[in-house]
Amino acid sequence: MKFLVINGPNLNLLGKRERDVYGSLSYRELEEKVTAHLEREGIECEFFQSNSEGEIVEAIQSAAGKVDGIVINPAAYTHTSIAIRDALLGTGIPAVEVHISNVYAREDFRRKSLIEDVVVGKVCGFGWFSYVLGARGLAQHLSEERK
Ligand code: DQA
Repeated sequence: MKFLVINGPNLNLLGKRERDVYGSLSYRELEEKVTAHLEREGIECEFFQSNSEGEIVEAIQSAAGKVDGIVINPAAYTHTSIAIRDALLGTGIPAVEVHISNVYAREDFRRKSLIEDVVVGKVCGFGWFSYVLGARGLAQHLSEERK
């Protein structure tokens, strides 16, 4: 199984940015840890990070037919982007929403996600491990669907 892991704006600053909220791992370290965990479970993953909404839309569109699913942390675009929602709907690629922090324990505006009803499920609050949990959930969902 192959997944594209998409990360939105400011996640390239992990390790420097609000460490009390997002932890001390750098973006590269997060990529390495998630890749190593998923490899052991037979899930291959490719990472993409961008600070630009349009590039994230392009990445979703280009993934069609190339991956089995998308693990997406749209970061701040979670709360604002109709374009990312439409790209997920338009391509129909099964996706899971993940967040490093517990978005429900923070400001009210973080409770609203414009993609939560078009993804298979959502994981938040487990730091870098949210990505592993999300990918596991999506892989399980896809293998049950294929039975
Ligand atoms: C985030 C939560 C978002 O509200 C925030 O804008 C981010 C990161 C997370 O992973 O916890 O940039 O998606």
